[in-house]
Amino acid sequence: PMPPVVAIDGPSGSGKSSVSRAAAQRLDVAYLDTGAMYRAVTWSALEAGVDLSDPQAVVDHVDSVGLSVGVDPEAPTIAVDDVDVTEAVRESRISAVVSAVASVPAVRERLIEMQRSIIEQARDTGLGIVAEGRDITTVVAPDADARILLVASQEARLRRRAEQLHGAQGAQRIEEIRDEVVRRDSDDAQVTAFLEPAPGVTLLDTSELDFEESVAAVLAIVASTA
Ligand code: C5P
Repeated sequence: PMPPVVAIDGPSGSGKSSVSRAAAQRLDVAYLDTGAMYRAVTWSALEAGVDLSDPQAVVDHVDSVGLSVGVDPEAPTIAVDDVDVTEAVRESRISAVVSAVASVPAVRERLIEMQRSIIEQARDTGLGIVAEGRDITTVVAPDADARILLVASQEARLRRRAEQLHGAQGAQRIEEIRDEVVRRDSDDAQVTAFLEPAPGVTLLDTSELDFEESVAAVLAIVASTA
């Protein structure tokens, strides 16, 4: 069979990025982290001193920079005007303001167009791809071979995010992270309705699954639908 196009959405801390990337590796297809694209233009706007509360200034900035996205699931990368920002975009100063940038409709238009062309290319060349974000199953690639909404309970998501940011001791710092995760969910929910599966989208709740079980569950859904 042809390598599939797989769309995965979900909130932050659902394990979506690491599970999607591992699924792409097992399927031997490309991997697209669309959140990293929103983070990269946010990084760049901050770097340029753009006023993030001015939507037109943000759009003008986005129009003036070149994004390069590396879709190798072994080492996904993102660069702005040839500056590699793969690591920098993970910083919490970016997480804190990315929703403001992602809520500008013209910014979404630009990035969605790029995302669609990356996905189309992966389809046309027979490479296949796993693309993940908030609106991939609904807006970017509603025609994907498999579409999955990956969710987890708030407690499970806080625990994973804390571990991701602070290692094994992170579990103790959950309260610090609660605000960030809860606020970003509510900000993002104003823009895209990603917490309910659209028709034809398979809901996968990973609250009680470990990492390997989550990857296996994604692969099982792909095998049964794609
Ligand atoms: O997935 P991640 O947490 O890295 O995404 C960062 C931010 O990018 C999200 O909080 C959201 O504001 C935005 N985003 C989006 N649409 C996507 C992916 C991410 O609006 N498809």
